[in-house]
Amino acid sequence: MDKKTEQLHRKIEEALKGGGENRIQDQHKKGKLTARERLHFLLDEGSFEEIGMFVTHRSVDFGMEKDKFLGDGVVTGYGLINKRLVYVFSQDFTVFGGSLSETHAEKICRIMDLAMQNGAPLIGLNDSGGARIQEGVVSLGGYADIFYKNTMASGVIPQISAVMGPCAGGAVYSPAITDFILMVENTSYMFVTGPNVVKTVTHEQVSSEELGGAVAHATKSGVTHFACGNEIEAIENIRRLLTYMPQNCEENAPSFMYEGIDESRSALNTILPESISQPYDIRDVINEVIDKESFLEVHKDFAENMVVGFSRLAGRSIGIVANQPAFLAGVLDIKASVKAARFVRFCDSFNIPLLVFEDVPGFLPGTDQEWNAIISHGAKLLYAFCEATVPRITVITRKAYGGAYDVMNSKHIGADMNYAWPGAEIAVMGAKGAAEIIFKREIGSAEDPEAKWLEKEKEYSDIFANPYRAAERGFIDEVIEPAETRIKLIKAFKMLESKVVNNPRKKHGNIPL
Ligand code: HXC
Repeated sequence: MDKKTEQLHRKIEEALKGGGENRIQDQHKKGKLTARERLHFLLDEGSFEEIGMFVTHRSVDFGMEKDKFLGDGVVTGYGLINKRLVYVFSQDFTVFGGSLSETHAEKICRIMDLAMQNGAPLIGLNDSGGARIQEGVVSLGGYADIFYKNTMASGVIPQISAVMGPCAGGAVYSPAITDFILMVENTSYMFVTGPNVVKTVTHEQVSSEELGGAVAHATKSGVTHFACGNEIEAIENIRRLLTYMPQNCEENAPSFMYEGIDESRSALNTILPESISQPYDIRDVINEVIDKESFLEVHKDFAENMVVGFSRLAGRSIGIVANQPAFLAGVLDIKASVKAARFVRFCDSFNIPLLVFEDVPGFLPGTDQEWNAIISHGAKLLYAFCEATVPRITVITRKAYGGAYDVMNSKHIGADMNYAWPGAEIAVMGAKGAAEIIFKREIGSAEDPEAKWLEKEKEYSDIFANPYRAAERGFIDEVIEPAETRIKLIKAFKMLESKVVNNPRKKHGNIPL
């Protein structure tokens, strides 16, 4: 080997060590992988090509000119996941705590530009102490450059952020602008201000994990879509998530091999409980209808009265939005509306057809909901469905009451096919409440008000507690035997494959944020 090649090899070796052996050991002691180990597990074997391995920072303050590490705290490049191109950056906590310098930001921006120009997903593995304190405002500028590019890329290429260490201050806003966030329990956290600031300002005593750990953000705030038990689980989730998505907004998601034989699902005929007020788990219905084991639930622990996730039907990617009768009776509230709205918009951005399972008693009443703007938040879901141009199908399994009937992908707001099971009730409200309002006087003046109420409840129920009034109007295209659901959906989505709908030309809409 000649001297120049030797020099190159030495430099590569130096870069591969990041902040050095001791800091790598520290990283492992915390239960964390290094930036390069994460990429090794994320990408198809041998597919990673690094860009900018020898980049160093330009800072000269505080003696920083003597303290340089090749790569400057972030590993950037491209590679393959399931044989498809992706662009990646992976922050290296062993170099200045993965903090973001001017050149660190430039490396990330370059990868983002390439991802956009070539129409492939961007994956960021975040593990950083935030702005490089020694660099001051140029670091803040670097963050802002990234936020801007994240926003420009939104809806053009899928963007996925894994948070695998600290993520504080304004740094949280890059992941927040991307499509999906994954966090790792006990080793990652996200917050705008940490526990010390919280204590000073609000006198609350809270740990980092409680304030901004994976579980807090998966259950309370909904900031993270996946709380993972460890880093490998997070990485596997990223790889799986990508299988449902196209490379960019101009393409369709990949199809999987599928050989259907018997598509009838007789178990669906008996899947609902006897009584209309009894809960059941909508996931049982979903799993019976879709391709075996193809459901990847998103936002699983947040707003559990709404279930959203990706799955496949006859090998084709679809997004599922479903009321969950097993939690709060599947009522629509603020969190459920926002969760579903965001998912609908992602699917529509990336040409993923939508399937809605509806069993909803209405919007949740109360001062908490009203004062926290259920009107605006519910409108987000309405708006998201109204503007979605992908193929859209609804199956009403049981209740479709009130405004929630309209909102949950009704025919009126652009659904392509609307099915109902024979036991569906499509009305302004449940029969008991309806009778109490419209027959108030009759019930009040009756000799036996209780009996009268029951009589009137039955009268209302006979007229509206079925799917046929809606079917007479064409609001429901077909009332189907539950066992036939899968067959009907496969055929209908196939029929809608070449659907083209163009919304009116505009700069952009004004979704009620
Ligand atoms: C420069 C940093 C750094 C930073 C950590 N380091 N954060 N260097 N800038 N922001 C360095 C440390 O000096 C140390 O270097 C090494 O990284 C590891 O840090 P430790 O503190 O030893 O690690 P740990 O105990 O695990 O604590 C991690 C941490 C803590 C919680 C992230 O380091 C920390 O609180 N850092 C500061 C966080 C912060 O306030 N950042 C600015 C946020 S505001 P050595 O040489 O000893 O290994 C922000 C604005 C963004 O980011 C604005 C966008 C709009």
